[in-house]
Parts: sequence; C-alpha cells; structure tokens
Amino acid sequence: MDRFVSVDEFQEEAFKLLPKNALDYYKSGAGRQETLRNNRSAFSKFKIRPKCLRDVSKTDLSATVLGEKVSIPVGISPSAMQRMAHPDGECASARAAQGMGTIFILSTIATSSIEEVAEAAPEAIKWFQLYIYKDRHVTRSLVKRAEDAGFKALVLTVDTPMFGLRLADIKNKFQLPSHLKLANFQGKYALTANKVGKNTGSAMNDLGALFDASLTWDDIRWLKSITKLPIVLKGILTADDAISAADAGASAVMVSNHGARQVDGWPASIEALPEITKAVGHRLEVYVDGGFSDGTDIFKALGLGARMVFLGRPVLWGLACGGEEGVKKILTILKIEFEYALAISGCSQISDIKPSMVVHESYYARL
Ligand SMILES: Cc1cc2nc3c(=O)[nH]c(=O)nc-3n(C[C@H](O)[C@H](O)[C@H](O)COP(=O)(O)O)c2cc1C
Repeated sequence: MDRFVSVDEFQEEAFKLLPKNALDYYKSGAGRQETLRNNRSAFSKFKIRPKCLRDVSKTDLSATVLGEKVSIPVGISPSAMQRMAHPDGECASARAAQGMGTIFILSTIATSSIEEVAEAAPEAIKWFQLYIYKDRHVTRSLVKRAEDAGFKALVLTVDTPMFGLRLADIKNKFQLPSHLKLANFQGKYALTANKVGKNTGSAMNDLGALFDASLTWDDIRWLKSITKLPIVLKGILTADDAISAADAGASAVMVSNHGARQVDGWPASIEALPEITKAVGHRLEVYVDGGFSDGTDIFKALGLGARMVFLGRPVLWGLACGGEEGVKKILTILKIEFEYALAISGCSQISDIKPSMVVHESYYARL
C-alpha cells in the first residue's frame, strides 16, 4: 500500500484481495452499468481554465459544511456493509475521517452500529444516513439513536424506494457473510419477522422490503417534525427536485446517482450538478458524489458549485487494502492531488475557484 500513488492503484489491489461476493456487491452498478462508467468518464467533459501569476505560495483547503469546519472538501459517503472489506469496517473509516478532519456518513445498512461508530471515532463529524420505513417507529428509533450518539446531521436517501437491479448480485444470490450482521438492527432493535414482512432469506432484501416506497415530499416535513438535526437529501439529480428539497426545508442536497446502483441511464452526478447548483446554490448547500477518483475531479465539482464532494467505493478499496490507514491514504492522495490542481490553476483557497474556471468542453468547440 505504501507504494500506491493513486486511487486506481488501490482499486486494482482491492479487486485482487476481495472475495467475489463482496467485490461484486461493492463494484457493481445497475443494469448494463453505462451510468457507472459514465460517472467517471464524464469528468473529462469538463475542463479547468487556469489563472496564472496569482500568489499560491500558501494554500488553505478547508471548507465549512453545515456550520462545521472540515480540513478538506472531501468526505465519506454512506456505503453499506464495510466489514466485508476489513474487520474494523465502518469504525476504521470513521477513524480515518476523524484523523483527516472530515465528515463520515454512516449507512443504515452498516455492519457497525451507530453506537459502536460513535465510540470508535468520538471526535469525527458524523452524519447518519437514513431510509424511511413503512413502520415509522423504526425510523424514529434510528433518528433518536443517531441524535443521542452525537451525529450532526441526517442524510435521507431519496433515490431508493427499493434497491436497484444489480445483475452480479442477482447471479451470486448476494448474502451478507454469516459472521457479519446488520449492526443497527440487533438485540432490542432487531426487526421482528412480522416487521420484515416477506422473508426472502437475504438480510438485505428483507430490509429493502421494509422501505416505504410510498414516500412523498410531505414525508420530508414529517421527518423534520421529529428531529432538530439538519436534513440532507441524498440522491437528487434534477433542478426541480432540488427546488422541492429547498421548499421542504432541507439544509442541503447531495447530487448523487447512488454510485450508479439504482437505474442505468441516469446521468453522471457531475453532469447533473450544474443545473442543481444554478437552481438552489443560493438557498442550500450542495454536495456531490459519484466517480470521484482524482484531485482534478474535486476541483471541477467545486467550480461547478458544490461545497463538498464525497467518496463511496474509493473508501472501500482503501479499507480492503489497509483498514483505517488505507482510508487515510486514499483521502491523503486526493488531498495532495486537489492541492496541486488548486495551486497550479492559480487558486490558494476554495473561494478562489470561480465558476468561469470550470467549463463544459463545448466551450472550446464554439471558439
Ligand atoms: C457498496 C456500496 C454500498 C452503498 N450503500 C449505500 C447505502 O447504504 N446508503 C446510501 O445512501 N448509499 C449507498 N451507496 C451509495 C454511496 O453512498 C455513494 O452515493 C456512491 O457510492 C458514490 O459513488 P462512488 O462509489 O463512485 O464514489 C452505496 C454504494 C456502494 C458502492
């Protein structure tokens, strides 16, 4: 791991290390995976227009997100079942975020519980990712536990009325390995058979069957009524939905296609970002995830108006290669790459990245 200098090298090594069941679950997108490929390739459609002869002898990569200072504008997205990648799973990722001074978002479908992660990384800025369940007591209980454990925001995933069709998982009959558990639903929080409804034999499908697919914007108001925590809506891909999010009182939106795992044919996150920042950037904070693997990707997203970017799979590759240290190294690589992109393009801090510095490639075709 010490010799790796890019996220891609971590990915290559993780592909060798992980068992097929876990690797396929982590790496797959929905359907024919066009959106998955596009999440990465779409970055090259955007170009950085640099400025020269600015004093960049000192750089500051810090940002303020929901009132908290982060040392880099890169955080960790919620991805499920991280103990398949490393025995310390989510606890290791949260500690890496703590060490790097950034945000860790814990998935509901984690293999470490809210309380375990809070204990492992007490100083990390932790947010909790939530689904809304048909049984609202399940949702209320998770919200209360996250509040009690010191989590600072709720990230409601709005692109998952049900899980998307990931063909490799269907073929593999994907199961969480039997030595692991969905840690937020154990002991007194166990989901009883009648709450699970249909028992498919797969912990994840059983859980998916609990999601309330009848959710509407009114339910965002309901969620707001049961918590004082700021609410981030994750999975917004259009200006219209972003405006609805602002109207419903969300504090932020995360532009995301769920790592291309829901519906093939959705746009790359970076393609969807500009219309959203244009529509609501003045009303709420806008974050983005999907396909980030290089510091220049981060520069482009910030230039297109995002306040923060988040990583899904790169964190899993870091975990697989080296646990907490592996995740720290992933964040460090991106930090260094971003710092170079920033300074060499003529900016010493994030606020120096002006919208005119990141353009769609059609800008050059017109000249
Ligand atoms: C293995 C895996 C599990 C995920 N689990 C969740 C989840 O439980 N909740 C959620 O909101 N998003 C989940 N996501 C989506 C991520 O939060 C994030 O949006 C996406 O991975 C970002 O794209 P990237 O992997 O290209 O960085 C998952 C993604 C992956 C790859």
